[in-house]
Amino acid sequence: MTRPAVLVARAVFPDVVERLRHHFDVEHNPDDEVWSADELRRRLAGKSGALLTASERIDAALLDAHPRLRVLANMAVGYNNIDVPACTARGVLVTNTPDVLTETTADFGFALMMAAARRMAESEHFLRAGRWTKWSYDMFAGAEVHGSTLGILGMGRIGQAIARRGALGFGMKVIYHNRSRLPAEVEAPLGARWVDKATLLAESDHLVLVLPYTPANRHAIGAAELARMKPTATLTNIARGGIVDDAALAAALRAGRLFAAGLDVYENEPAVHPELLTLPNVVLLPHIGSATEATRRAMVGCAVDNLIAALTGGVPPTPVNPQVLAGWAA
Ligand code: DGY
Repeated sequence: MTRPAVLVARAVFPDVVERLRHHFDVEHNPDDEVWSADELRRRLAGKSGALLTASERIDAALLDAHPRLRVLANMAVGYNNIDVPACTARGVLVTNTPDVLTETTADFGFALMMAAARRMAESEHFLRAGRWTKWSYDMFAGAEVHGSTLGILGMGRIGQAIARRGALGFGMKVIYHNRSRLPAEVEAPLGARWVDKATLLAESDHLVLVLPYTPANRHAIGAAELARMKPTATLTNIARGGIVDDAALAAALRAGRLFAAGLDVYENEPAVHPELLTLPNVVLLPHIGSATEATRRAMVGCAVDNLIAALTGGVPPTPVNPQVLAGWAA
């Protein structure tokens, strides 16, 4: 009996490839090349499944070129790189990796917010440049974190985990905006208050973005939204590039209309807006929110569990479009 063929689009831990080889014919990418769209299309030929990262774009045309594809296992909680409605229409299952990265990503988001508020990157560069010659009363004076107001845009699992850190660890007042208000039993232990977006922008001392990217929230934070924020506030984006208008953010930071920012994601990553690169008051990190070895292992483990289950008659643990499974069963 021929075994299904799968593609592993980026380098992963070697034992992961071995695990997949027990079930499938595996084509992988040990050199971690970043394939062009044409190369990805070529490599998907004859594959029943693929293990992807958030860097590989899957659209309707690509799906139409590969009618044998049945499952796309994204090694990420976000899946805006995949046209999910197009997959659903063609009976292709999409899976992601929720839960396993929640606490690690919340640790990181909180750290990035603190680094921006307390000017950690800027002052470290100063020290490394040999410019530290004396102590001064106002040297790198930052923004207070404890006891301040933490605003969260997108109060899903990671947003709530950041709120826990702020409320329970740092005595912060938590306000949030989300499409739907959380149940009272979730809000109460955090003292969290749902507010409209305008209030969130106006009242936050530290605003953290944790919402999923959709075309509707492209530039959810643009010039108009930044103008509503306190000039003493910080903005942290650990969600997706494109949610923030990077050019407008750079202009606000340069003009002192916003105190500081912490960014892990960018509109055109891995390219970073050139203006941002010139500014001292923004901490710039290379999309590493979930990057601990344990969490990356858990993420790829979850993606592989999904791939194996989907192609061997099992129950994929974290489907994004579970309605496809009902269609397969019919
Ligand atoms: C995620 O899981 O969505 C992270 O951003 C990694 O891409």
